[in-house]
Amino acid sequence: MEQPDGAWWRRSTVYQIYPKSFMDSDGDGVGDLRGITSKLDYLHALGVDVVWLCPVYPHGGVDGGYDITDYRAIAPEFGTLADWQELLAGLHARGMRLVMDLVVNHTSDRHPWFLEARSSTDSPYRDYYLWQPGRDSGPPSNWGSHFGGSAWQLDPATGESYLHLFAPEQPDLNWENPRVRREVYDLMTFWLELGIDGFRMDTINMLSKVPGYPDTAPGADYAYPLAEEHFLNGPRLLDYLREMRAEVLSRYDVMTVGETPGTTPEQAAVLTDPQTGPLDMVFQFDHMAVDKDTTSARPRWTTVPYAVPELKRVLGRWQTGLHGRGWNSLYLGNHDVPRMVSRFGDDGEHRAASAKMLATLLFTLQGTPYVYQGDELGMPNARFTSIDDYRDVDTLNLYREDVTQGGRDPAEVLAMIHAKGRDNARTPMPWTAGEHAGFTTGTPWIPLNPTYPDINAEAAVADPDSVYWYYRDLIRLRREHPAIVDGRYDDLRPTHDTLYAYLRTHAQEQLLVLLNFGGAVLDLDGVLELPANAELLIGNYTAPGEVPPGVLQPWEARVYVTRTVEETGTPG
Ligand code: GLC
Repeated sequence: MEQPDGAWWRRSTVYQIYPKSFMDSDGDGVGDLRGITSKLDYLHALGVDVVWLCPVYPHGGVDGGYDITDYRAIAPEFGTLADWQELLAGLHARGMRLVMDLVVNHTSDRHPWFLEARSSTDSPYRDYYLWQPGRDSGPPSNWGSHFGGSAWQLDPATGESYLHLFAPEQPDLNWENPRVRREVYDLMTFWLELGIDGFRMDTINMLSKVPGYPDTAPGADYAYPLAEEHFLNGPRLLDYLREMRAEVLSRYDVMTVGETPGTTPEQAAVLTDPQTGPLDMVFQFDHMAVDKDTTSARPRWTTVPYAVPELKRVLGRWQTGLHGRGWNSLYLGNHDVPRMVSRFGDDGEHRAASAKMLATLLFTLQGTPYVYQGDELGMPNARFTSIDDYRDVDTLNLYREDVTQGGRDPAEVLAMIHAKGRDNARTPMPWTAGEHAGFTTGTPWIPLNPTYPDINAEAAVADPDSVYWYYRDLIRLRREHPAIVDGRYDDLRPTHDTLYAYLRTHAQEQLLVLLNFGGAVLDLDGVLELPANAELLIGNYTAPGEVPPGVLQPWEARVYVTRTVEETGTPG
């Protein structure tokens, strides 16, 4: 059934929906499934092929739906299974597909398995989770959780601790236990039989922990360091994922994308090998680290201006590392990171131009592009001035640790949240300039991004020059040019400080992409010579058919096609 070379997901564009903030149909201030269904024509007009729905299952309310209490149902605030089926049918009727979030590294602590497991050491569900006795009245090892503090939670009832790589309310499942794996395969089959088209697999490379949970070297970030070397791509990960493919996925024509932080292109090539790889593609994180201040006590939260050559090096390493060997996803934003235009572009004077330029990058590399809701409008970060406006557990934990407990200047910590907080991207989708941005008739669960009177879908759709229509053009371009999907990647000026220029070469067609990463005009003279037969396909300043000048405007993007591939393949 599978056709690795013709796999549809290589040619697809995925649109990520954070359901809580997409569209509210019933006025409770929380987005829901019927709201999404009411916006399918908007997505269809944009041209996306696949929708990835962040979790809509019943949950414990701690981590935005990533703490699941029932894997086979819909949370009441999102609707019913019938609403979900209507959404699926609406997508399929428009030729679009649906990918569901699979969160099986951990459950909620309110999941019936965990309630059973914690009731006694003899519970038949005890081994569904990872329990250890404490050590010298401290936790079993020094592992830290992603959200701060120890990764071990002492359970007073039995005197043992359980492992949680995320919040204490998110106990990690024990993948060593074949019964756990069976449960997961069965719940996957449940959704596949309902007709879904794939899974986005949450933190999937954390399933296998190094036996014995050895201590890790003390790190700078937290008192309890992240013991990544002991749980990322662990010893049995490939066994588990191969079993999952054999038992479940191989029976369906679906796509899978695994969230795999801390993974190298070499490891990703094994995970996504067209013949033997258990996954279709991965989300890698290397480019998410280019603006981290690694010298700070809080590297994840501190931001330094990124160096364009470093961004090119990191992206290029993945382009060449996976070419012909595996498959990558392409993303610059999602529900866990700041808005792409604020982070990598200029969300002030050049907001629209830089949003389009970054989109050009996203759509002309090799891999499957992911558009996070609102990025097609060029939405900037939210930047609330009071901590009371934030909802994210990770953000609130930081504030508590650093300000409430640590006595740090609140303004300093708010500045970190403005740059890196997850709620930047979780504010409601701005549909109109009207009340509550047309998202809800009630009170939104989190305040709106204050930019909504100017930046909203209605205004974007009405403006032929908007970021939205530029995305639509890019999506179409990608479909029409096999060089974008399959071509080889060559960086022409890897060390240039602001110019990102690369070729995508395929059979008889070659594309040349020029991106100006900055607000200054960039004279190409002496830097790069355009081939004589170059024809402009798309640009954010110059329309196809026009001959653009020899300088690049602030944040300018151009994609040229040269129909005949030269022997050397390298102009300039
Ligand atoms: C992933 C999700 C994130 C969540 C975490 C724990 O990184 O994208 O939102 O908090 O996993 O499930």
